[in-house]
Amino acid sequence: MKVIIKKDYEELSLEAAIFVKQKILEKPNLVLGLATGSTPLGTYQKLIEMHQKEGLDFSGITTFNLDEYVGLAASHPQSYHYYMWENLFNHINTKKENVFIPKGAVKDLKEYCHFYENQIKKRGGIDLQILGIGRDGHIGFNEPGSAFNSRTRVISLDPVTVQDNSRFFNSISEVPRKALTMGLATIMEAREILFLANGEHKAEIVARALEGSITTKVPASILQKHPCVTVILDQEAAMQITI
Ligand code: F6R
Repeated sequence: MKVIIKKDYEELSLEAAIFVKQKILEKPNLVLGLATGSTPLGTYQKLIEMHQKEGLDFSGITTFNLDEYVGLAASHPQSYHYYMWENLFNHINTKKENVFIPKGAVKDLKEYCHFYENQIKKRGGIDLQILGIGRDGHIGFNEPGSAFNSRTRVISLDPVTVQDNSRFFNSISEVPRKALTMGLATIMEAREILFLANGEHKAEIVARALEGSITTKVPASILQKHPCVTVILDQEAAMQITI
């Protein structure tokens, strides 16, 4: 595990964007796994700038998002579909047919999860997966207790996650209680992981995930077993690690 500590969120975002850019330059048909939430927003902004100012070309890449709320249509402003188009895809030249985001409003969710897994396989698997971490240690929406061999499925959100994500909704009662998420085994199959965390509120869970025991109580701790992880933290999120 390679750990890089940057001064602040701005520098973290730039470092992460340069990392992704390098991978795209090395492999123009990169299969890139994406996360939503606050953490990667700065990285996406930097990637947009690299596209607009330097002509970084996204036309060959395929993307797979980690998760989506169950019951929210793609047009819902709090859906992860909406987030991804608003914060990245509308501003770069990724081909629409190469963008995969789990659909949370389909009738047969179980069948859809199989379909999603198959699409990842058909595209040759994920080359680089970007991850954030929840305060309860989740990656994707794999909440504490998620099995290490879990695959894409429906999951009930932990009260901590519902509370944390309520900041994006008008009230906590509007936050969906279920989500579709890639599983921990799906994430671990990515050939490379880019793990990002910023802010003091992430310091404790980052230390438990990266240096604590590997346990389903802290789903992100499974990343200690992945052969190719790069961690980029800001100083605040790195406060409790000893690496
Ligand atoms: C979102 C996702 C989640 C977030 C995590 C941290 O697609 O996979 O695991 O990365 O909840 O969220 P933020 O970045 O908002 O703190």
